[in-house]
Amino acid sequence: MDNLAEKRVLIAGGSGGIGGALSRFFAKQKAHVIVQGKSSNASRLVKNIVTKGGSAESWEYDFDTPDALGNFEKLLRKHLPIDILVLAYGPLLSLTLPDMNAQDWEHIVLHNLSLPGILLSVCVSGMAQRRWGRVFLFGGTQVQSKGYRDIVGYEAAKAGISVLIKSVARTFAAQGVAAYGFYPNYVDTEYVSAAQKDQWKHNSRYGRILNKEDIVDTVSWVLKAPVHVINGVLFSLRPWGIKEMGE
Ligand SMILES: NC(=O)c1ccc[n+]([C@@H]2O[C@H](COP(=O)([O-])OP(=O)(O)OC[C@H]3O[C@@H](n4cnc5c(N)ncnc54)[C@H](OP(=O)(O)O)[C@@H]3O)[C@@H](O)[C@H]2O)c1
Repeated sequence: MDNLAEKRVLIAGGSGGIGGALSRFFAKQKAHVIVQGKSSNASRLVKNIVTKGGSAESWEYDFDTPDALGNFEKLLRKHLPIDILVLAYGPLLSLTLPDMNAQDWEHIVLHNLSLPGILLSVCVSGMAQRRWGRVFLFGGTQVQSKGYRDIVGYEAAKAGISVLIKSVARTFAAQGVAAYGFYPNYVDTEYVSAAQKDQWKHNSRYGRILNKEDIVDTVSWVLKAPVHVINGVLFSLRPWGIKEMGE
């Protein structure tokens, strides 16, 4: 793995769940970690990182406010450069097609597709100029496009992420920039209710679902890959033996 000691990492959605685990991981690699979260979880995590000798700062920022994305773009431009971009925030909306209204569509697409697009537009040319950059985005539950009954808006917006990832690879690979997509099926995080986790585990032949460390291990492994060989790749992550629901 390249030395990450001088790197600046933005982890949007980095205060908890998958993003929280990645914030701790990058801090351990001695990178400077910008932890964005909605609540004071971000500053709590940063305090913890700094107490252990890491370098981090917290951005408490709510994407559910008027002009949130445009204002976040401005904020980010003031804090460049970013060498590693991680977007681990991606709200789920469990609604069928007939149940979704214009507001639902606007929200789900803005947060799951426009937001990663904006972050890339701000960060990627600087990565290319410095000839080093890594991008880690999270898709939905499946790499392949398929139909959904009740998370159709979420999955439709997440499907667009693959185009972003492959476009980064296609345009900037020669300048040392690599982008990867992770599509985990189910991940045990503090944001998932106990009942939901039980249901997921019940559907797993091995009685388990992915945990945050599985994702960290995968990111760590991908960071060791030669970017002229492994770039623009979408990874389907799941525990062996899980029975796919609804397939
Ligand atoms: N978990 C899974 O099983 C699963 C499966 C497939 C794909 N994914 C994708 O993987 C990524 C990570 O998922 P996750 O479950 O760990 O996390 P998540 O619930 O998508 O995101 C949690 C993070 O986002 C922040 N956040 C929540 N609402 C926000 C808002 N309105 N404005 C700003 N920040 C907000 C949280 O901050 P606070 O800590 O302050 O609340 C936290 O840092 C997402 O893109 C998700 O779609 C997850």
